[in-house]
Amino acid sequence: MYLNYSRGTINMTAMIQGWLECIRCKRKYDLTEVRYNCGCGGTLDLRRDLSTVDGRKLKRRWENRWGAKRGLYASGVWRYKELIFDCEEDYIVTRQEGNTRLYDAGKAGEYAGIKNFYLKHEGENPTGSFKDRGMTCGVTAARFYHASSVACASTGNTSASMASYAAVCGLKSVIFIPEGKIAYGKLAQALAFGGKTLQIKGNFDDAMALVQQVCSELNIYLVNSINPFRIEGQKAIGFEVLQQLDWKVPDWFVIPGGNLGNNSALSKGMRELYDLGIIAKIPRIAVIQAAGAAPLAAMWKTRAGYAPVKNPETIATAIKIGNPVSWEKSLRGVNWSHGVVETVTEQEIMDAKAMVDAAGIGAEPASCCSVAGAKKLADAGIITADETVVGILTGNILKDPDAVVGYHKNELRAMGIEGTYANAPIAIEATVEAVRKALSCSPCPQ
Ligand code: F0G
Repeated sequence: MYLNYSRGTINMTAMIQGWLECIRCKRKYDLTEVRYNCGCGGTLDLRRDLSTVDGRKLKRRWENRWGAKRGLYASGVWRYKELIFDCEEDYIVTRQEGNTRLYDAGKAGEYAGIKNFYLKHEGENPTGSFKDRGMTCGVTAARFYHASSVACASTGNTSASMASYAAVCGLKSVIFIPEGKIAYGKLAQALAFGGKTLQIKGNFDDAMALVQQVCSELNIYLVNSINPFRIEGQKAIGFEVLQQLDWKVPDWFVIPGGNLGNNSALSKGMRELYDLGIIAKIPRIAVIQAAGAAPLAAMWKTRAGYAPVKNPETIATAIKIGNPVSWEKSLRGVNWSHGVVETVTEQEIMDAKAMVDAAGIGAEPASCCSVAGAKKLADAGIITADETVVGILTGNILKDPDAVVGYHKNELRAMGIEGTYANAPIAIEATVEAVRKALSCSPCPQ
């Protein structure tokens, strides 16, 4: 599918039925030019005319594609091609992303105090995070715009995903990461997949500002979630959850928020399904931010204007972001869904993570904001006992082993985090007697 390196002029409007539209001023742009922002500074939606689409037929078609063994529809993104974008297949770069499991939350559900709690594990994507759903679209778009290089700023997962998809189709990838601030598993992937990795002095927000400038000056295609094609792919998380629930709409989605692309995608997708009559209600969306990196939550709670957070700080490095590019889209989606925005502390994130891990599921710290946030909302009575909740786990447990080991060895005290549910390794002599002693005590000494 990705082996067709066709170059030359293409007629974009014939290839994709759609247009870009500013979410702020509604100005429309056709798809012939590469654009990430409106002239007014607003972010752009990829829009299409849904008036001739028959929702029932579409749902049936998607059901027929479920379980495809090979080809485009074996992807959990392109299965929903009609609502992703309808581009020529030769351009599509796919790794059969998506098709991730929807787990019963088990111990994590008990911990949150929610009976009907599912966890959608996006860490089971090819590169270990939900980013692959957006990246199949971002890199596909790069190909139909005839780009030879793609770039992103990243807290780690976007870069791992971009480097992989670029490697698959032979594009060069350029990565901007904040120096010393990304989890090792992610950095390892970026390097391994051959991404040119630039560690900049500064935080993610500095890297994000720089990459936008670089892409416009050096003519490199930008695949951060400010790219409207990326958002289209990420909508498929919600589509797939609904399909897994036989189209029974949950009451809530609970999702971590960093650069705020993912929850924007979720709400856009739900809104489209609702407009097509495929679902009869839009589930409420709870966006959960780490307390030290929570510009959207601050805005939501005080109803004040948008103000970036200067020095964001959290152990959940994936979402250590103070100036999210999609805050406006995110807020729109929270409003559409009658949702909420909440914050969780470092301790709450890591204790929730310990429970997700102890449930045998496992996820990286940022992902576990979903469970920490769901618990907080359930404790406050905002999520009620009889409601069905889907938490999105965004990244794999192996992305950030330092956070796991640090918690279980109780070495995160300097960050104000106690290993409440620590399961520390025990050093012993290599004797049966020592093993007997170690196994007979509870809790075991360290
Ligand atoms: N969870 C994980 C594991 C992430 O990697 C990210 C974002 C988020 C949640 C937040 O999603 O930005 O759409 O609100 N990671 C980006 C990156 C920023 O560069 O990998 P968001």
